[in-house]
Amino acid sequence: MSLKPKAKSPKLPFVFINMAMTADGKIATANRAIHSFSSARDLRHLYELRATADAIICGARTVEISKSILDNGGAKFTKLRLKNGLTEYNLRVLVSGSGSVDPNAEIFQNKFSPIIILTTARISKTDLKQLQKVADGVKICGQTEINFRAALRWLRAKWNVKRLLCEGGGELNEAMFRADLVDEIHLTMCPKIFGGRIAPTIADGISFSKLAQAKKFELKSMLNFDGELFTTYSRLNSGQ
Ligand SMILES: NC(=O)c1ccc[n+]([C@@H]2O[C@H](COP(=O)([O-])OP(=O)(O)OC[C@H]3O[C@@H](n4cnc5c(N)ncnc54)[C@H](OP(=O)(O)O)[C@@H]3O)[C@@H](O)[C@H]2O)c1
Repeated sequence: MSLKPKAKSPKLPFVFINMAMTADGKIATANRAIHSFSSARDLRHLYELRATADAIICGARTVEISKSILDNGGAKFTKLRLKNGLTEYNLRVLVSGSGSVDPNAEIFQNKFSPIIILTTARISKTDLKQLQKVADGVKICGQTEINFRAALRWLRAKWNVKRLLCEGGGELNEAMFRADLVDEIHLTMCPKIFGGRIAPTIADGISFSKLAQAKKFELKSMLNFDGELFTTYSRLNSGQ
């Protein structure tokens, strides 16, 4: 038996999700045409949360649909980031198992901070080469599905990501919940109904089949601002 101490795994970042949701639990309309439906106050909330994060992680479909560049919100929020002891701009992390990220997307034209793409061995050689040209790193983190636990440990070790803000969409969020990586949820509930069985929710992807498998959170705070409910939930029974 070896007496060598077991090497410690690198630490994980603190992961917090921020989403806006309708009263019927949808994060977009079924046709995905409406993706922005909360108030200006909620947009400020998004930038305030970004100002506490080293990095933002986003699914490929969300970046594609919203055309977001995952910026820090401008001078006021740069100041806030510096006050919070962070760098001026957040690192940007995109997730695409197949590598289906458009290298001409707007996000790559805006070079204010590094962009990392997490992908799998499913990516084609051509896509890999193209994305390597426009991104600051393309990391293969699994054969067919991304191993988020390993990917997040890598982000912390290589890019010093201690606080990671996950901005969806539903498929990415669900993979993060399933891997037990989510520490906190910021959910803005908007007094609207979108309806539609196939409209996305905050956690799509694969469903748990037993109540015992449900991820458990506790409500930490709740604020009603002009009819929108700003809530925060913390993870219960973190076995980390
Ligand atoms: N209301 C809000 O706050 C809010 C916030 C964000 C997004 N949204 C909405 O949510 C919708 C998009 O959500 P979505 O669920 O369709 O897409 P998504 O989560 O943004 O992106 C999904 C893609 O990410 C990659 N991915 C996710 N999990 C993976 C895993 N475990 N392994 C490998 N790759 C993985 C896959 O890319 P590949 O297919 O390329 O492999 C997958 O197709 C949009 O309508 C958007 O407007 C709303």
